[in-house]
Amino acid sequence: MSMFKDMLRGDESLFRNEMALDFEFLPKVLPYRENEQRHFATCIAPLLQSRNGRNLFIYGAPGIGKTAAMRFVFRDLEEETDDVVPIYVNCWQKNTTFKILIEICDQLGYKLTHNKRTEELFEVVKGIVNKKAAVFAFDEVDKVEDYDFLYSLLEEIFKKSVFLITNHKDWLMELDQRIKSRLLPEVLEFRRYSLAETKGILKQRIDYAFAPGVWEENAVDAVAARTFELEDLRSGLYLLRESGLAAEAKSSRKVMTDHVREAVAKMDEFSIKPRSELDDDMQVILGLVKSNSGKKIGDLFRLYQQEGGQSVYKTFQRKIRKLADGKFVSIQSIKGGADGTTSIITYQSTKKLTEF
Ligand SMILES: Nc1ncnc2c1ncn2[C@@H]1O[C@H](COP(=O)(O)OP(=O)(O)OP(=O)(O)O)[C@@H](O)[C@H]1O
Ligand SMILES: [Mg+2]
Repeated sequence: MSMFKDMLRGDESLFRNEMALDFEFLPKVLPYRENEQRHFATCIAPLLQSRNGRNLFIYGAPGIGKTAAMRFVFRDLEEETDDVVPIYVNCWQKNTTFKILIEICDQLGYKLTHNKRTEELFEVVKGIVNKKAAVFAFDEVDKVEDYDFLYSLLEEIFKKSVFLITNHKDWLMELDQRIKSRLLPEVLEFRRYSLAETKGILKQRIDYAFAPGVWEENAVDAVAARTFELEDLRSGLYLLRESGLAAEAKSSRKVMTDHVREAVAKMDEFSIKPRSELDDDMQVILGLVKSNSGKKIGDLFRLYQQEGGQSVYKTFQRKIRKLADGKFVSIQSIKGGADGTTSIITYQSTKKLTEF
């Protein structure tokens, strides 16, 4: 019997609340993002005094707390007042002016949107919001297909703050001048977490999600190190869950480095963002890299042009960099050689975490 002494029984679990490892879970406090949240709040504060708010452009890498920080500030705002309405739109899901206005109507509690045209929907929004004040957060804003909604909000809503969130710093530069000159946003970068911060966040999640004391310290360190390397907290949450499940599958009462290693091996087949996020041109470029993996960037560009690609070389380069940011491709710089420094682009045949 003693062999089974340290084994988990069928009715036992290492998890206390597995849902705390969901990407949408919002912990009670959001450590290391206090300054960013304060900055959000100072943009909103004038609205509480019936003045106009300020606008904010927020950018930073995937999985470093931008959405979480926004949701936090909105939760606080809702507890504080009824006079300022928080409206959060994920533009990945709602990517046209029409869909965005339907969503805003819905959040404002207006249900009679059926058969209404875009202009009519905007009149509804205007009628409701101009009696109060509102904060609009457009998350993943680079995914929207037209900016009419933004123009209309900026022109015709009197008391508001507009928050725009994206992974791409250059999105703002490319924004239509008519909108940019009305938006005049402050700019806030979310920097990546340090190793110590990454570990702090993961420990907080462990406390929420697992029974006390089941994680061995060096196993936590292993998850933190890997997450820090990947720079995306979502991969850390994934590793916590998978390591826990691996330990349970072996009926272990502790989560140990071996279990983390198993989880890491499983994750290596996945990366973070789904391919459906890419626009058509990016899809074409990714397809080209896929069938010509390991070629020089200049050669890829020539193939791209032969296939009717419209972007100029600079844009093409930028798109390749974005693909690398999303871990769809990797870029390797080769110095020297016949044509000076060049980049070799390799296709990464990984699946995405969100494709489960
Ligand atoms: N400081 C933090 N404390 C606790 N949890 C955090 C913190 N930062 C990020 N997280 C968690 O990491 C996950 C990813 O964060 P979030 O969704 O905010 O990323 P993001 O910056 O919006 O990424 P993307 O650009 O891909 O949308 C979420 O589950 C979030 O709760
Ligand atoms: Mg986000």
